Amino acid sequence: MSEVTQHIHIYSESSWKDHKQIFPETLLHFFSGKKNESFVLASEDKITLFIGIGDSYTESSLVEVSQKFSTDYKDKIQTVPTFLHAEMLTPHETEQLLLGFYLGTYLYPFKAVHPLWNEHFKWENIELSDEKFSKIKAICNGQFICMDWLNKPANFKQAPKFHAFLKEKSHKYNFDISFFNRQQCEDLGLGAFLAVNQGSNEDAYFTILEYRSNIKDAPVVGLVGKCVLFDTGGISIKPAANLHYMKSDMGGATAVLGALISAIELKLPVDIIAILPITDNAVSNNAYLPSDVVTAYNGKTIEVIDTDAEGRMTLADGLSYLSKNYKTDYLIDLATLTGSAVRMFGTTCGALFSNDPGLQKLLEDSGQKVGQRLWNLPLWEDWEDEIKSDVADLKNISIKPVGDCIVAATFLKHFINDHPKWAHLDIAAMCFGNVGYAREKAATGYGVRLLLDFMEKI
Ligand code: BES
Ligand code: MG
Ligand code: ZN
Repeated sequence: MSEVTQHIHIYSESSWKDHKQIFPETLLHFFSGKKNESFVLASEDKITLFIGIGDSYTESSLVEVSQKFSTDYKDKIQTVPTFLHAEMLTPHETEQLLLGFYLGTYLYPFKAVHPLWNEHFKWENIELSDEKFSKIKAICNGQFICMDWLNKPANFKQAPKFHAFLKEKSHKYNFDISFFNRQQCEDLGLGAFLAVNQGSNEDAYFTILEYRSNIKDAPVVGLVGKCVLFDTGGISIKPAANLHYMKSDMGGATAVLGALISAIELKLPVDIIAILPITDNAVSNNAYLPSDVVTAYNGKTIEVIDTDAEGRMTLADGLSYLSKNYKTDYLIDLATLTGSAVRMFGTTCGALFSNDPGLQKLLEDSGQKVGQRLWNLPLWEDWEDEIKSDVADLKNISIKPVGDCIVAATFLKHFINDHPKWAHLDIAAMCFGNVGYAREKAATGYGVRLLLDFMEKI
């Protein structure tokens, strides 16, 4: 078969109006330039793919459109298109479009088989520097590692396996890795994390990743990612419906990991300390029990009312350990923490909590820009009443069935050692949801570009 050239033409509605006279009349009924519209025009030796971006396109909507196109057309595009016509876009907007094309090449497990994912390929008529292209690849590499891990079945993501993977990456990307096993956690007093881990068949892996940019006065970002490999609910067991989705309860950790890897590839001038308290939340005869009182790393005692509120237990020690032992400019935790945030926002945004309006704004802006939105919720004193316990300093849930995502954030605030710039991102429904590349819910990559954009700004 002879080579067929493939051209991709990008149009908004208004730019299509200006250009349509150069195409056959009949085409006008099939394509108008609306967002996510696509149309294929084929002749013997040339295929032209039209993609609509709509008139009110933004940076994030351009990524969204091209990502969708790339995913939808993965089996149809046979050769790499050699031409991209996107006249009205600025170089920066074109870069967003290309980022989407590359992000859309993802499938699980990731293999570089999509015709648009091609190391040696350059779009013929686009003037983007090598640097810009490697930036796109760096973002994809971090995001795909994140998605691949989140998508793995529960029996492929046991703690030793995930830790071994992190270790392997630490050699490749040159960051430090250390961890505390169950015995070491006991010696250190990481009692809140251990309570969750004690029912597990696997050892504890309270893991610390440390990346130093070696740039003078680089800001230090402390990240904690919820890393519950599978959340059965423990003794407060979850119902069976949709239980398989609880393999996604390490979504905070994979977002942190993806951002770390991309940041290193991009050589961002930031130092990163990331804590991933790795465990599963199992049902077993050793599992922690409702009514248990445990002592967290910072000495506070916690009454366990519900063993399914395990994420805040692991994060409590992650945050305490990080804030006590490292000097950080920002302290940010990401977690698939509550169904409450899911019920409130669905898949429209993550819930944000922060004690610093400046940090809040930086994160909100990044989220808006990359299309991984956040919405700020309050940390009013009033909520403290909900976690007062009769037998301990705190209890891990409120007895009232209201505002659990705020209750959880209020709980976490007790473990940040008064860090002046802390943010908590409850991203339960965001990192695992409906995607173009899978029938079932799957990893979205949420959080990676959000954190990257934030770290680029500071
Ligand atoms: N991992 C869940 C939160 C979650 C829910 C993530 C839905 C993704 C989708 C968390 O550990 C949990 O079980 N939370 C409980 C808390 C409750 C016991 C107060 C919840 O939200 O039901
Ligand atoms: Mg739970
Ligand atoms: Zn959980």
